Amino acid sequence: MQLFDPNLETDSIHMSIPIDAIALSDLELIGIGLYSPLKGFLGKKDYDSVLERMRLHNGLVWSIPITLPVSTAIASTLTVGEYYKLKFNGDTYGVIRVSEWYEPDLEREAIRVYQTNELAHPGVKRLFERGTVYVAGDITLVKKVDKGSSSDVWFEPKETRALFAAKGWRTIVGFQTRNPIHRAHEYIQKAALETVDGLFVNPLVGETKADDIPADVRLKSYRVLLENYYPTERVHLGVYPAAMRYAGPREAIFHAIARKNFGCTHFIVGRDHAGVGNYYGTYDAQRIFSDFTEDELGIKPLFFEHSFYCYKCDGMSSEKTCPHGKDDRVILSGTKVRELLRSGTFPPSTFSRKEVVEVLIEGLKEKSTV
Ligand code: ADX
Repeated sequence: MQLFDPNLETDSIHMSIPIDAIALSDLELIGIGLYSPLKGFLGKKDYDSVLERMRLHNGLVWSIPITLPVSTAIASTLTVGEYYKLKFNGDTYGVIRVSEWYEPDLEREAIRVYQTNELAHPGVKRLFERGTVYVAGDITLVKKVDKGSSSDVWFEPKETRALFAAKGWRTIVGFQTRNPIHRAHEYIQKAALETVDGLFVNPLVGETKADDIPADVRLKSYRVLLENYYPTERVHLGVYPAAMRYAGPREAIFHAIARKNFGCTHFIVGRDHAGVGNYYGTYDAQRIFSDFTEDELGIKPLFFEHSFYCYKCDGMSSEKTCPHGKDDRVILSGTKVRELLRSGTFPPSTFSRKEVVEVLIEGLKEKSTV
């Protein structure tokens, strides 16, 4: 297929498709190779195959449908084989050569990907809010999104790979998070780091649900945590600019593939990875890895049990290593912690580092006065 030549003036293309913030991030991440082997938004054959068997039509593992939803009104203006500018807020970020468009069965997608069709699930809600026709085709990225205050931690896969090589790291463990890093996160990261050369702290900074802590505030907290408690020569901070899907097990596979593309050899999967509410079992996102071989995934998952501080152990521990009871353990839900932080209350130091909490409370206070 003839790809659009980015050296040509995009002005020579007169038609355009408006895209939302999620499609913009997907466009950029396809363009920089983070979603390799994808070259564009999924066509019908790949879409069906991803929903039914978590593989592209050619058999390669792929668990989350990356699609370009539009309205029926926009779809009615399209022509197969034509180039269209992909515009966000009036600016052109990419070009797509439309290969087809199709009407997805969104109920089926919800059940397959999220295991529920309830609108209370943030991923399902978003699915039904986006367009009802999917446009497919290979893309060319023509403009990158302004990185703002995260520009020093925004890396393309080719850059992280070069960085890891320059540091002499042969084994690198990737860590996904959409939250501030708490003591249990730190515990499993450092346990993993005991056995590999480097740790890639790779927080998701794309779209999240409204009550998650904003990415810019989290970024400040990661920086302060790493400065104070991590061996800087063995840790690298870089953002993962994708939207959060909250798809639990399927998203864990997707997260692992993206981290492989960044150059990681290992990937941490703890309790209820990419989960929300009670939609998934605590270890479902670990179990799903047994559907694939490590060879075909190209990255090794490292599984961790639910971890916490235990008063009797007098330290961090987990279901696997702590013999004590619930009452001895410091366990707080994400919702509870967000509540505490928003009310300016410090969670216990056995849950979260003081320096991190200070930054979070301050950051959230600033947001609430804007
Ligand atoms: S996620 O949506 O990005 O997965 P979160 O930021 O809470 O949510 O988790 C980041 C990673 O840490 C995931 O792999 C998750 O499974 C793991 N994790 C979170 N909390 C714990 C915990 N208390 N014990 C073990 N693993 C955890």
